[in-house]
Amino acid sequence: MVVSSGALGVVLAGSAGAPAQPAAGQTLFADKQCARCHRSRGEPGMGPALEELKRPQGEMELAGRLWNHVPGMLTSLGQAGLQWPTVSAVEMASLMTYLGATGARDPKPDAAKGQTLVMRKGCLKCHSLRREGGRTQPDLAERRADYASPAAWAATMWTHTPRMAAAAAEQGIQYPRFAGDEMANLLAYLRQVSGAGPRTTGRSDR
Ligand code: HEC
Ligand code: HEC
Repeated sequence: MVVSSGALGVVLAGSAGAPAQPAAGQTLFADKQCARCHRSRGEPGMGPALEELKRPQGEMELAGRLWNHVPGMLTSLGQAGLQWPTVSAVEMASLMTYLGATGARDPKPDAAKGQTLVMRKGCLKCHSLRREGGRTQPDLAERRADYASPAAWAATMWTHTPRMAAAAAEQGIQYPRFAGDEMANLLAYLRQVSGAGPRTTGRSDR
């Protein structure tokens, strides 16, 4: 079937900070099978029309939409007999650019709201945070490279959320969904608590 041309590009581009190319994004959209399900409005496709995906939006906003969409997409992929496409951070950056996402459109994140979201979204039903909460690794306060950029975060989520969604279904836990600026706020908190982001002074580790 379609052989992804992405792998070599990733090795050469090296880091998630490489400038994202909209043209590369368009190619990836086809290579990664996205275009099979997301077609132009009026053409039959299993997923929402390309015009609904592609719009001026924030990168974290799009990361949230992608996260939300994983369980639904898993189901339709299975029905279509397709493999879950792998997407690297560099590739995700290009896909995001192609879909009209820029960091400038994300609101300034609020880490304090993010702290409430870690509880409210049920992350700690499975994961620990500073060893409190559930037992699933990773501990969310661990410093992670993928907390660094929306594309890196979205790529990790893309890769791992199928298993997360499966765990949620197994344990009867509601798979969390994100709206508006929630994903940006959550990530801002995870950055802060892991020491990967701007430090807040005067708060010591408990
Ligand atoms: C097998 C079909 C299929 C493939 C392949 C697929 N999607 Fe989807 N996609 C869907 C379906 C179905 C939904 C709606 C899921 C839902 O309602 O939860 C969706 C939803 C989305 C949404 C959310 C739209 C919204 O309204 O918020 C985004 C963004 C998205 N897909 C991007 C992608 C990208 C990027 C790729 C390729 C890497 C991709 N999709 C590949 C079927 C697919
Ligand atoms: C139902 C249980 C469950 C819930 C709820 C859950 N996770 Fe997970 N999470 C998992 C499992 C299982 C894995 C391991 C997935 C794998 O091995 O690929 C995981 C993996 C991860 C990873 C690591 C991915 C990697 O690359 O290793 C991160 C980061 C993460 N989860 C963040 C979150 C956040 C943030 C939330 C809340 C919004 C959340 N998880 C909610 C079960 C859950």
